[in-house]
Amino acid sequence: MQADYQTLAEHYGTPLYVYDFDAMAANYRRLKEAFSGHKSLISYAVKANSNLSVVAHFARQGAGADCVSIGEVQRALTAGVDRYKIIFSGVGKRDDEIEIALREGILLINLESEAEMKRVEMIAKRLGKQARISIRVNPNVDAQTHPYISTGLHENKFGVEIDAAKRMYIYAKNSEHLDPIGIHFHIGSQLTDLAPLREATQIVADLVRSLHAIDVDIKFFDVGGGLGVVYRDETPIDVHAYADMITEAIRGMDLTIMCEPGRSMVANAGVLLTQVLYEKENGGKRFVIVDAAMNDLMRPTLYQAYHRIEYLGQNQEKATEADIVGPICESGDWFGKKVPMPPTEHNDLIAIHSAGAYGFTMASNYNTRGRAAEIALEGGTARLIRDRENFEDQIRLEKGYLNTPAEGYDDDT
Ligand code: LLP
Repeated sequence: MQADYQTLAEHYGTPLYVYDFDAMAANYRRLKEAFSGHKSLISYAVKANSNLSVVAHFARQGAGADCVSIGEVQRALTAGVDRYKIIFSGVGKRDDEIEIALREGILLINLESEAEMKRVEMIAKRLGKQARISIRVNPNVDAQTHPYISTGLHENKFGVEIDAAKRMYIYAKNSEHLDPIGIHFHIGSQLTDLAPLREATQIVADLVRSLHAIDVDIKFFDVGGGLGVVYRDETPIDVHAYADMITEAIRGMDLTIMCEPGRSMVANAGVLLTQVLYEKENGGKRFVIVDAAMNDLMRPTLYQAYHRIEYLGQNQEKATEADIVGPICESGDWFGKKVPMPPTEHNDLIAIHSAGAYGFTMASNYNTRGRAAEIALEGGTARLIRDRENFEDQIRLEKGYLNTPAEGYDDDT
């Protein structure tokens, strides 16, 4: 991204998320084109970056949306995603969420247990509808990624085992209120090796063959998300090899390939800009304290994730190692350790790279810090796509203790 970060930081303040919409569109096109010659639907995983403008931007390219809460479904609809391109996944959907999804008529509700299937059937019956469903199969494949973002082993909470899935498909096929047309799996995130994906794809493709043989008419083959990106020096999976692997695995079957990429669409199209507040030394260790914190980007502390940190100030002096930390009252509030950094001045600008995915969406108000502003760069112009949260925004839903009438459950008469 060749943006003038200094001007943006001065204009919008820091911490500031900056997204390159042109790069996002290019990422989408690259993946879509890899599937050319085959029916495909790329449903962007909204959880990676759910800003309405980001979702709308993908919708304009033709993308669908992969959602894991009714809030995400509503975001997708609000952003203009076609309802026939929306899929609703998640291990724990509430009745009200299932009901809204059915009323909205989205493409698929993705089931993750037999109990959930019965619940969806019951609600569909009450509404006089037939629910289009897919089943998330857990292929028991080790995705070889960080354990927190690995999802395809039986020991993980996700999906159902192959035998249970078969039983569920047979049940659903015979139900008046269920229409089993999709199959789904997702074995983990930030994958850089095609082998576990190939193994899972083949297992699930074989399952589809056996389902077709008993007249379960699966039409959508959803391979989930998970394509890794370069944070430091990883070699990402080539999208053509990925697409070829999938088309090969499902050869001879009439299926629409669906995928749900999140990170690979947005991670490297985003940076978090922050300014230096102070420098200090404790016990001979150098700390650079910046105005962003773990509430803005929690990936480093949560997953020990590496994000490249770039000094954008004027100082040309020799860099020495420093820990780059935020102002929050936790030792886990860090962005990088032993980062080469010249001596910094108050207000020097720092860019934290690869922050477009699971950055803002995992932000919180911890320490009563307002969440950062977000801007989009497109065709050389900048646009504010989320205001910086102020104190009033944060306390809006909190009833004032002093002027809220008590509701009388504490009856001591
Ligand atoms: N589909 C399903 C069912 C998922 O669970 C996920 C991500 C995706 C698609 C999108 O995966 P992606 O293409 O982004 O790898 N917070 C973590 C990542 C959690 C991923 C959760 N599921 C992080 O910051 O690394």
